Amino acid sequence: MSNPDTISSYSLYERVGRTKTRRRAAAAAAAAIRTKMGRSVLSHFLSLSTNPPRFSAPLSCSHIRTSYFKKRTGGTPSLQSPAHLPAGFRCLCTTSAPQTYSSDGPPSSVKKRVVSGVQPTGNIHLGNYLGAIKNWTSLQDTYETLFFIVDLHAITLPYDAQQLSKTTRNTAAIYLACGVDPSKASVFVQSHVRAHVELMWLLSSEARIGRLSRMIQFKEKSRKAGDENVSVALLTYPVLMASDILLYQSDLVPVGEDQTQHLELTRELAERVNNLFGGRKWKKMGGRGGALFKVPEALIPPAGARVMSLTDGLSKMSKSAPSDQSRINLLDPKDVIANKIKRCKTDSFPGMEFDNPNRPECSNLLSIYQLVTGKTKEEVAQECIDMNWGTFKTNLADALIDHLHPIQARYNDITSDATYLDKVLSEGARKAANIADATLNNVYQAMGFLPR
Ligand code: TYM
Repeated sequence: MSNPDTISSYSLYERVGRTKTRRRAAAAAAAAIRTKMGRSVLSHFLSLSTNPPRFSAPLSCSHIRTSYFKKRTGGTPSLQSPAHLPAGFRCLCTTSAPQTYSSDGPPSSVKKRVVSGVQPTGNIHLGNYLGAIKNWTSLQDTYETLFFIVDLHAITLPYDAQQLSKTTRNTAAIYLACGVDPSKASVFVQSHVRAHVELMWLLSSEARIGRLSRMIQFKEKSRKAGDENVSVALLTYPVLMASDILLYQSDLVPVGEDQTQHLELTRELAERVNNLFGGRKWKKMGGRGGALFKVPEALIPPAGARVMSLTDGLSKMSKSAPSDQSRINLLDPKDVIANKIKRCKTDSFPGMEFDNPNRPECSNLLSIYQLVTGKTKEEVAQECIDMNWGTFKTNLADALIDHLHPIQARYNDITSDATYLDKVLSEGARKAANIADATLNNVYQAMGFLPR
């Protein structure tokens, strides 16, 4: 039985975003990408057992040289920008790495900082777990980690006010049950640190409505809600997410693939504000000078980054899908899990195989099996090559139940002691606020506000 407390010995991640200095590898990879120009991500390995993570492989850069950035700042940004590429291109360049941080951000000898969060809406499902939360637990030993429950994001669509505090608390309990350790990571509720909303307002002045209205998640969610019912908060939500990340001078943001575009916006806003208000301009205002924000990178896992629906291998597993049969919720009882797997969509091909585009359900379920058993992709491919659907589904259901059972048991323990959870959340918020307030004060100063 795999234990979610155990950190897998090797985890492979893709880092989307700026890398340090790997110019030669970047140039070679950029040439490849120019011909293939899909999503420009490169992989690297993090050794997460006893070794510190290695960032040795070339990484991609999701930096986008936007024309508005150039226009607004009136020429070449002071931060390095990939000037060799046309506007809109992603690249494998070594874009601006601000070397000075405004809120006592980490010098190189200090642990890098990692932040992430999940919305307390609906049930936390296998996609949230495999795409994000499971990976957090592997990072908390190596990095300074802050994990928050993004309750302010939960009100961007119609919601039940009676339930919000309950689901917020339950989401925090799930973090801990999945192995997030409050002695290593700061766990807190987003709305308990007021700086999130304040910085969002300041960043809003540099975010553009056109850019926000073209965000994929906004377009999808607003289409579903019907345009008349769409809140302003749904449109400006990515600015709040940028604030969540930039407040903490974060280096890495472990998320599923659907958050990549939000991370790109965050990076753009960081560079824009750094350029407009940081450096010498900030110094003239009495500040330290240098970059106001660190430009963060998304950390996307190679498997589990996009867990698909059980009823349609081409749609993402989602909290908002109308049918509960389409997802495995982390707290689903054993019989429900077995039943959902038994009824999930299959195909009529013989055997089981990864990566056949005509068999999205098969590939998805094999990946889930791989992740919950802790086996390698090759081991799973070998084990299941001649299996029929019936046998595979039984094995998958058993593996899922074995993996989720200890999480569910811990969840029950944690939620039975309200005082413990309150203490964890208030301590987490206190630590987070110290970092966040320092960033916020610097931004107020650099943007010219009268000191309090
Ligand atoms: P949310 O709550 O929609 O999802 C939480 C995390 O789960 C990942 N995820 C998935 N991963 C793989 N397969 C899936 N089917 C799947 N569905 C969801 C998401 O990528 C995410 O990592 N905007 C964010 C929350 C947020 C945030 C932040 C995250 C707000 N501020 C700052 C990081 C840093 C969201 O709505 O996630």
